[in-house]
Amino acid sequence: MKSNNILQEAKQAIEQAQSQSVLEELRVKYLGRKGIVAEFFAQLTKLKGDERARQGQELNALKHEITRALEQRENAMQTLALEKLAEAEALDVTLPGARLPYGHLHITTQAIEEISRIFAQLGFQRMRYPEIDWDYYAFESLNMPKGHPARDEWETFFIAGSQQTLTRPNGHPLPEREGRVRAAEHPKLGRMVLTPHTSNGQVREMERRRPPIRMINIAKCYRRQSDVTHAPMFHQFEGLLIDRNVSVTHLKGTLDYFARAYYGKDRRTRLRPFHFRFTEPSFEIDISCGICGGTGEIHGERCKVCKSGWHELGGAGMVHPNVLKAGGIDPKEYSGFACGWGIERMLMMKLKLSDIRAFYIADLNFLEQF
Ligand code: PHE
Repeated sequence: MKSNNILQEAKQAIEQAQSQSVLEELRVKYLGRKGIVAEFFAQLTKLKGDERARQGQELNALKHEITRALEQRENAMQTLALEKLAEAEALDVTLPGARLPYGHLHITTQAIEEISRIFAQLGFQRMRYPEIDWDYYAFESLNMPKGHPARDEWETFFIAGSQQTLTRPNGHPLPEREGRVRAAEHPKLGRMVLTPHTSNGQVREMERRRPPIRMINIAKCYRRQSDVTHAPMFHQFEGLLIDRNVSVTHLKGTLDYFARAYYGKDRRTRLRPFHFRFTEPSFEIDISCGICGGTGEIHGERCKVCKSGWHELGGAGMVHPNVLKAGGIDPKEYSGFACGWGIERMLMMKLKLSDIRAFYIADLNFLEQF
């Protein structure tokens, strides 16, 4: 009887099995209904008496041994699988977490928020007026009648007129009494323009509320211009204050406060006489140079950054009586000031940039510096 050899062979095969399915195959091979052990049992019938009993015992022992070997191997395999899983899923809670890439607001947006905050401290309310507006608000109500040459300075984009009648969202034309006007042309307000400045917010704000008015309007503006310091789309900021007895001193005080808050506490502004149709008197605002402190000189040499001690910031003035009237406000009772300038221009001065296109090309190498 070669049951010893069989046991050796079976144990070796079981020991080497690497999967449940191989183990199952071995179980069938040795212990199955037609397996090796069963075959031996079948041959017992040919034997007699003691020999039969002895060999029967031996076979039972063999069967038992193989069963045990299978069980042990199965347990070992399960333990091993668990260990592997534990290793794979091990979590070291003391490791630092993986940082996600973190974005931030565009610098123009950051500047808009900062300007809004600075003016909010003086009680100016942030407004946003249309970026596509009627000629009336962009020009006519600002004391610039049609055909006036002053308009030329705002190189304006006009919205093309169209012969279509206005329709409801479902496509049906509006009834006559609701005004079948040509799109982009209004009988009183004129054509539509891409706002060339934020001053269109002035009369709109006067129409919205009675004085005292303190608002800033920050919006996109459009002009037909393009070079390193001008873009066809840019942002402007407009401040408007209307109350009783407002004078140029209030304007100057507000501008100085802004210059200190935004650029630094040693900065100041100066007003130079200028001309705008919608303010009288009008000024151009300069801000003292941050490098030479407004002297125009460093150690006896001309300041290379400003060349004169001052940088031009934007326009300002006392609101023209005709503009107050257009907004339904009595110029004998109220007066006010307005100021406005470009956001990108301010940023270029603050960050010492020479090319305005840096704001629009979405170059991460540039943007990630801020
Ligand atoms: N709207 C003027 C411009 O775009 C600036 C300005 C604003 C001037 C308010 C006076 C008062 O140049």
